[in-house]
Amino acid sequence: MSKTIIVSNRLPVKIERNQAGEFEYKTSEGGLATGLGSVYKEGDNIWVGWPGLAVNKTEDKEEICSRLKESNMSPVFLTKNEIEEYYEGFSNETLWPNFHYFNQYAVYSDVFWNTYKKVNKKFAKKLEEIIEDGDKIWIHDYQLLVLPAMIRETHPNSSIGFFLHIPFPSYESFRLLPWRTDLLTGMLGADFIGFHTYDYVRHFLSSVNRLVGITDNDGHMNVGNRLAMADAIPMGIDYNRYAQAAADPETLASEVKYRISLGDVKLILSIDRLDYSKGIPQRLRAFEQFIEENEEFREEVSLLILVVPSRDQVPMYANLKKEIELLVGSINGKFGTINWRPIHYFYRSYPLHSLSAFYRMSHVALVTPLRDGMNLVCKEFVASKLDKKGVLILSETAGSAKELSDAILINPNDTNQMVEAMKEALKMPEEEQIARMETMQKSLKRYDINAWVKLFMKGLEQVKEEQENLR
Ligand code: UDP
Ligand code: G6P
Repeated sequence: MSKTIIVSNRLPVKIERNQAGEFEYKTSEGGLATGLGSVYKEGDNIWVGWPGLAVNKTEDKEEICSRLKESNMSPVFLTKNEIEEYYEGFSNETLWPNFHYFNQYAVYSDVFWNTYKKVNKKFAKKLEEIIEDGDKIWIHDYQLLVLPAMIRETHPNSSIGFFLHIPFPSYESFRLLPWRTDLLTGMLGADFIGFHTYDYVRHFLSSVNRLVGITDNDGHMNVGNRLAMADAIPMGIDYNRYAQAAADPETLASEVKYRISLGDVKLILSIDRLDYSKGIPQRLRAFEQFIEENEEFREEVSLLILVVPSRDQVPMYANLKKEIELLVGSINGKFGTINWRPIHYFYRSYPLHSLSAFYRMSHVALVTPLRDGMNLVCKEFVASKLDKKGVLILSETAGSAKELSDAILINPNDTNQMVEAMKEALKMPEEEQIARMETMQKSLKRYDINAWVKLFMKGLEQVKEEQENLR
């Protein structure tokens, strides 16, 4: 039976060494891992990726391989140097800032680029051991942009899908990368290339046109003598999982516990990985202005802000953590009273039931990234609102804003607008909250993660059929 091979840099499970030197297996954070977490377990499917730490000893590698094999995963091990130059370096200091329009942070290094190609090749070699005739290979995200062409070279007739989980930037940003043409030809090794929004598709096609000289016809491209196709397939969430978690007794027990500690205030919720693309300092400043200008909300409203540790070896991320902590301290110091803490800040990751309790108990979700490929946190908030009460404030520069037009949409650089949105959200009549929430829930239920996988696979199959018809 043919299988689907999911390939991404990070596996849905990350391994850490505890103080006793033993391995601990934890759930990975981030939209890609949480989103696809329920898909790869079916049939003979397999997920190939990095388990999140450097392992040197052969017996350790064997232990990890056999443990991961039990849950349909196969690891690609990276050396310390590869982690520094391919993962922290080219992926997160070159591509991530460029694709999110933070070019002032981008590092251009041939050393990083060469290691990036080397590691993509390492993934290709690993896949050669696994691929069988008829398999579908589904590659994910910016860490593996040149992998599709590498597999195409050794398996010319294989079915290769690629999905980008972050924005594809406009040509004006993308052209700044010295390796721009190689990156595009790498991606064009896939048969079907998916993005979260039509804008990202448009940007990609425009770069392909200008840099590789291929013009598209409604997303169809002739790559040499092979047809390839690019399309927008916005990723959904596992809606039932979040709706069920919100009704689970464990969640309700957590909610009671948190409520006792947080007191009887209305909560504005903010959850992100530590990332400059998420606009966390800007959000904190907007909250500060909000309580400065609106005395009536003091002691009535608190901001609950969770920041999940991420990429803290990359300098920009470590600096950001310091900036956030200074801001939280200064706002709490300035406005806090014996009875009221304006901001509750936590720097750690939480399990599903705690997250679900936070989603349930918050009146407002403040999701204001400066740029975000999609953003699943806002979708999870909506799915967790079983009584439909609550308001979503969402940045228009998040991919999810295209689907969630019933949120209060804001420009994350416009502090005054964010302050107004908080006021509007806290004062919104219940009927309006319910009406907006209902519309968003309907669409998220319909286009959930299963629909997303089906649509992607249908796109891939369709291209393969069209290729056959052209033979
Ligand atoms: N998340 C998590 N643990 C936490 C906080 C968040 O697993 O403590 C998850 C969250 O539920 C969501 C994902 O991390 O599914 C974040 O995805 P999103 O698309 O919002 O942003 P990304 O991190 O991919 O940029
Ligand atoms: C985003 C990216 C993913 C990545 C995740 C977590 O969602 O699109 O590819 O896995 O962030 O980041 P990390 O660097 O920890 O894998």
